[in-house]
Amino acid sequence: GIPKFVKIVEVGPRDGLQNEKNIVPTDVKIELIHRLASSGLSVIEATSFVSPKWVPQLADAKDVMQAVHNLGGVRLPVLTPNLKGFEAAIAAGAREVAVFASASESFSKSNINCSIEESFTRYRAVTRAAKELSIPVRGYVSCVVGCPVEGPVPPSKVAYVAKELYDMGCFEISLGDTIGVGTPGTVVPMLLAVMAVVPAEKLAVHFHDTYGQSLPNILVSIQMGISAVDSSVSGLGGCPYAKGASGNVATEDVVYMLKGLGVKTNVDLGKLMSAGDFISKHLGRPSGSKTAIAFSRV
Ligand code: HMG
Ligand code: MG
Repeated sequence: GIPKFVKIVEVGPRDGLQNEKNIVPTDVKIELIHRLASSGLSVIEATSFVSPKWVPQLADAKDVMQAVHNLGGVRLPVLTPNLKGFEAAIAAGAREVAVFASASESFSKSNINCSIEESFTRYRAVTRAAKELSIPVRGYVSCVVGCPVEGPVPPSKVAYVAKELYDMGCFEISLGDTIGVGTPGTVVPMLLAVMAVVPAEKLAVHFHDTYGQSLPNILVSIQMGISAVDSSVSGLGGCPYAKGASGNVATEDVVYMLKGLGVKTNVDLGKLMSAGDFISKHLGRPSGSKTAIAFSRV
C-alpha cells in the first residue's frame, strides 16, 4: 500500500531560483522561505554554498542563511559541493547539508567539474566533517533516467552511485530525473535497481516536469514505498531556452494529488498557494502549478 504520510522536501528557493535568468533579490528569497515555512512544510532547501562563478543566482547564500537559520520548526538544508562550501554553510548557521553526485559522467563534469569518482572523494570529506558536528547530509543522484549528453542512463549505474552515497553516511538519497525524461516505464526499473541496494525508507524522488511526467512518476514511486518527494513551489525553475532545464514538479500539484489519495503531508494548500502567488508575482509570470491556476479561477 501507499504510505500514510509523505514528507515533502521543498526545493524552490534552491533548485528553482538557481535557474532564474534574473537574479532574485535576497529579501524576496527570505520572504519566500518564511511563507513556505508558514504553510507547514518541514524541509525547505534554502540555497547553495557553491561557486558564485558557477551559480551567480545564489551568490547571496550566506545572507539568506543568516536571515533564516533560526526559523523554528523547519529544517533548512543547503547544497555543498565540497569542504569549502560545507565550512561556509556551517559558518552561516546551516544545520543540514546536501551533496550532489551524478549517475552520468558527462553531467558530473559539466555540473561540478569532476568525475563521479572524484566527487565521491570530495563528498567523503564533507560527510566526515559533518559527522563530527552531527550534521545530517542528504545525497542527491542526478540524471537517474537520462543525461542531456549521454542519453539513457542504466539503472545499475544509478544504484551504484546511490549506494556509494548511502555508504558514506548520507541519511537520505534523492533520485533526480534532472532533465525530466522519465516515465513510469523507465522510473520503475530504476527504482527497483536502487531499492535492491538502499532501503526504500532512505530514498526520495526528485522529478522535473519537462515532459509532464512528474505526477505519474511520483505516484508509482510512492506505490513502491517511497515516502519523501522533492518539489518546487509554483514549479519554479527551468530556463525556456535550455533543453532539459524545465522546472521541478509544482509542490501545489503534489499536495493536491496526495490529498486526493488520503496521504497526509501537513502542508496547508491555501498558504502554500499564497507563497506561490508571492513568488510568481515577483517573477512576473503565471504560476507553473496547474492546481494554483485552477484555484485562482474559482
Ligand atoms: P571548479 O571551478 O572546478 O573549482 O568548480 P575550483 O576548486 O577550481 O574553484 C574555482 C573557484 O571557485 C575558486 O575561486 C574557489 O575558491 C571557488 P577563485 O580562486 O577562482 O576566486 N569555490 C567556491 N566558492 C564558493 N563556494 C564553494 C566553492 N568551491 C570553490 N563551495 C565547483 C567546482 C564544484 C565549486 C563548481 O563546479 C560548482 O560550484 N558547481 C555547482 C553547480 C551547481 O550548483 N549546480 C546546480 C545544483 S545540482 C542540481 O541542480 C541537480 C539536483 O537538483 C538534482 C536533480 O535535479 O536531478 C540536485
Ligand atoms: Mg533538480
